[in-house]
Amino acid sequence: SRAPMTDGLGRRISYLRISVTDRCDLRCRYCMAERMQFLPKNQVLTLEEIALLADLFVARGIDKIRLTGGEPLIRRDIGDLVHRIGRHLGHGLNELTLTTNGTRLTEHAAMLADAGVRRINVSLDSRDPARFAHVTRGGRIEQVMDGLNAARAAGLAIKINMVALKGVNDDEILPMLRWCGEQGFDLTLIETMPLGDTGEDRTDHYLPLTQVADMIRAQHALTPLAHRTGGPARYHAVEGMDIRLGLITPLTQNFCADCNRIRMTCEGKIFMCLGHEDHVDFKTALREQGVAAVHPLIDRALRLKPAAHDFRIGVGMGAATQRHMSVTGG
Ligand code: GTP
Ligand code: 5AD
Ligand code: SF4
Repeated sequence: SRAPMTDGLGRRISYLRISVTDRCDLRCRYCMAERMQFLPKNQVLTLEEIALLADLFVARGIDKIRLTGGEPLIRRDIGDLVHRIGRHLGHGLNELTLTTNGTRLTEHAAMLADAGVRRINVSLDSRDPARFAHVTRGGRIEQVMDGLNAARAAGLAIKINMVALKGVNDDEILPMLRWCGEQGFDLTLIETMPLGDTGEDRTDHYLPLTQVADMIRAQHALTPLAHRTGGPARYHAVEGMDIRLGLITPLTQNFCADCNRIRMTCEGKIFMCLGHEDHVDFKTALREQGVAAVHPLIDRALRLKPAAHDFRIGVGMGAATQRHMSVTGG
C-alpha cells in the first residue's frame, strides 16, 4: 500500500478519533451550550460511510481508532459500526476504543467487548448526584454508575476522565482518585480547553493541573511512568494505589510536538488539530466520486497539520474555535 502517514513536520500520524454523532444526552457546561443546534441527519455520514473511511485510514497506517461524539453510544446501530471496524483488529489496527459519558453502557458494554474493545474512557466529573446533575445539566449519576458496573462485568478496563474545574469539582479530585483506586479504574485529569461558546466564562473555572498535582502530592507520592496510551496523557504511579493517574495539560504543558492524532467529525470533516479551524471535507468527494477520491484529500489534510494549538490562558480565555468540543470529539 502507501507510505505511512506523516505530516509536514515529520510527525507520524497513527491515531484517528472518529466522532460518530454531534448529539449527546447530556449538556456538560464546559462542552456544550444549553441550547445546541445539532446537524440535520442528512449532513451526517452514514455508518457505512464512516466504515469505508475507517477502512481507508487503516490501509494508510492508522493503528488506533477511538470513537467519540457527542455521545457515541446514542448513535443508532452503533454496534454494527463497532463490529465492522473491529474486524481490522490484528490486521493493521491495534486498538479500537471509545470515549463515552457512560449513560448507555449497561446496554452496550457486552457488545463492545464482543467487538474487540479492551478498554474505554468514561467521563465523570463528579460522583455527587446533585453536582453531577449540575455539571451535565440534568444527568443522572446512577445511570453512569450502573454503566461502569456493566463495563467491568463485561471485562472492559476503565479509565475515568475528569475535567478539573475550579469551584466546581476541585474538592472532589482527591476523593475521586481514592475511589478510582478502590475500583481499579485509572483516572485522567484534564485541563478545560476553550472550544466553542458554552455560555460560561472558562476563566472562572480554569484550574492548572500543575497546581492540582502539587495538591495530590501533598497526600500521595506520584512517580512519573513511561507508560503511554497513544493519547496526550502523561501517567504517574500513585503511592499505595494500584492504578495510574494521567494528566492532560494542553494549557500548562502542551504535548503538540509529538502529536500523532487527527480527528474526523460526523460530517466527514478531517481536523488536524483540536484547536484550529483548518480542515478538509471528505464527504463530498466520497459521495460524488467514491472512496478512492479520498486518498489525495488525506495527503492534503496532512500538510495542514499545524505545529501546535494556540489555546490561550488568561482573562477571557476566549474560545479558540467556534466549534464545540462535542463536534470534534476531543
Ligand atoms: P487514551 O487512548 O486513553 O490515551 O485516550 P485519549 O486521552 O487520547 O482520549 P480521550 O477521548 O479520553 O480524551 C481525553 C482528553 O484529551 C479530552 O479532553 C480530549 O479533548 C483531549 N485530547 C485528546 N487528543 C488531544 C489533542 O490532540 N489535543 C488536545 N488539545 N487535546 C486532546
Ligand atoms: N476541555 C477539556 N475537556 C473537555 N471534554 C469535553 N469538553 C472539554 C473541554 N472544553 C472532555 C470530556 C470527555 C473528553 C472527550 O473530552 O469530558 O471526557
Ligand atoms: Fe456530552 Fe461528553 Fe459533551 Fe458531556 S462532555 S455534553 S457527555 S459530549
